[in-house]
Amino acid sequence: MADRKMKLEDLRSQRWYGANDLRSVSHRARSRQLGFSKEDFAGKPKIGILNTWSDMNTCHGHFKQRVEEIKRGVYEAGGYPIELPAMSLGEIMVKPSTMLYRNFLAMEAEELIRCHPIDGVVMMGGCDKTTPALLMAAFTMNLPAIYMPAGTMLRGYWAGETLGSGTDTLRYWADRRAGLIDDETMENAFGGTARSHGTCMVMGTAATMMSLAETLGMTLPGASSIPAVDSNHALMATASGRRIVDMVWEDLRPSDIVTEASFDNATVVDMALGGSTNAMIHLIAVAGRAGIKLDLEGFDKISRKTPVLGNIKPSGKFLMEDFYYAGGLRALMGRLADHLDLSALNVTGATLGEAIKDAKVYLEDVILPVDKPLYHEGGTAILRGNIAPDGCVIKQTAADPKFHKHRGPAVVFEGYDDLHARIDDPDLNVTEDSVLVLKYAGPVGAPGMPEWGMLPIPKKLLEKGVRDMVRISDCRMSGTAYGTCILHVAPEAHLGGPLALIQDGDMIELDIPERRLNLEVDDAEMTARREAWIPRPYPYSRGYTAMYAAHVTQANEGCDLDFLHAGAETPEPPIY
Ligand code: FES
Repeated sequence: MADRKMKLEDLRSQRWYGANDLRSVSHRARSRQLGFSKEDFAGKPKIGILNTWSDMNTCHGHFKQRVEEIKRGVYEAGGYPIELPAMSLGEIMVKPSTMLYRNFLAMEAEELIRCHPIDGVVMMGGCDKTTPALLMAAFTMNLPAIYMPAGTMLRGYWAGETLGSGTDTLRYWADRRAGLIDDETMENAFGGTARSHGTCMVMGTAATMMSLAETLGMTLPGASSIPAVDSNHALMATASGRRIVDMVWEDLRPSDIVTEASFDNATVVDMALGGSTNAMIHLIAVAGRAGIKLDLEGFDKISRKTPVLGNIKPSGKFLMEDFYYAGGLRALMGRLADHLDLSALNVTGATLGEAIKDAKVYLEDVILPVDKPLYHEGGTAILRGNIAPDGCVIKQTAADPKFHKHRGPAVVFEGYDDLHARIDDPDLNVTEDSVLVLKYAGPVGAPGMPEWGMLPIPKKLLEKGVRDMVRISDCRMSGTAYGTCILHVAPEAHLGGPLALIQDGDMIELDIPERRLNLEVDDAEMTARREAWIPRPYPYSRGYTAMYAAHVTQANEGCDLDFLHAGAETPEPPIY
């Protein structure tokens, strides 16, 4: 039984259901319209369940079943569940980029919670942007909230080979472009990476962000590592439903759980997992909604002293299903205990230290010992220099070590269409030492900062066996991707950042150990180029995309909408 700090009359939903006025009578009567009597809901916490299921979200196919399991838990604990569909943001189908709509979902989730009679909320997400979007809403609304992660797919498998989503399909795609395999082989290999419900099962953005949601304390302990189709996942859904009802009575809110130390813990875990570079943007945005300011320097400081222990693709060898059998996130955090603030709280009201005290590592080659890490420092490094005065990122563990220090001439593409048109041109002046540069692919310029950052290797180099090159852009890269890809260059080219001024043949120097990315062009020449630079028009003048472009912040600031951080708190809706 929950420790009841909250009285029935103080529940937020009582404003809708509890009064004896025209509106409340109507609310009660209309619940009967749905088949619920007064006994079903009177005196019970109303639990919103934000469900990001849709036929277009290939990773959330099991949410129709899971939502029933959450509802069962809510009923068991004496609550009244209210399912609310929210934009599902399936990474595969949504164009031009789910990142364009992360803030849309964050706003929708916030307003869904605000405008309905909800006392606490279970948020169902997993596919890439859904996790940060739902957490952004949870921290903004600050009602009792549990995040229920979708879990990852089973291991990919085809023709005797274990395959990782994205990571291995991209490898097969490169082989197809090099003429090494035929179309049928490619189709079958791709199909082999989609064997069950659940998110991508490498340490991509989905697995990273689900793990970080747990590290922040916003899931039940152990929730993020359970594969989507494991029966333990259904048990976790029901347990989340039960727990949220108690959280309402305990009045346990995100602001009681999450502190700056929780975000440091999340950064440590991200680095030790070799997590997606996208996590840098999302953590800044999520923290911003909790009133906590994170910056790239803070990430780099933690990266410098955190070893990569998760031997998971794309940085390592195994997949998320293996990670679960190895003990999962709790076991990894157990190994990292010296790097974590164990007093941080979670949705159970207990500490991280209590959550991981019995955790064990069962497979030593999947979760590596601290003295035998996959890499001596964190997966993501932050770079600076005259190309990116406001910073950029690289997943150093997914880059060929021979490029960690590199100097080469730029081959420049003035946008994605230009890249698409010329990358396989036999006359393209490019060698393995060249540095491929893609402009106008940032938050505003693309728009929506798509995952184009793993620029394709030119076909003529693929045919010679080249599989990695240094690549620079102001866009993002899928967390499942790999290669020496420098991403999130800020300010972006569309806003006139120095990236816009790079020309073919300019020498570029990359030094990851020294965290440096420099264009070897003198100041006078850069000034002349800047004066000659012509800004590009923005093609969208109406609708959400126009609003997004006018207000989105740069990658180093989290790509949130600026007006969501300004102004007074939105008041509770009046009930008329
Ligand atoms: Fe949904 Fe990869 S497509 S997580």
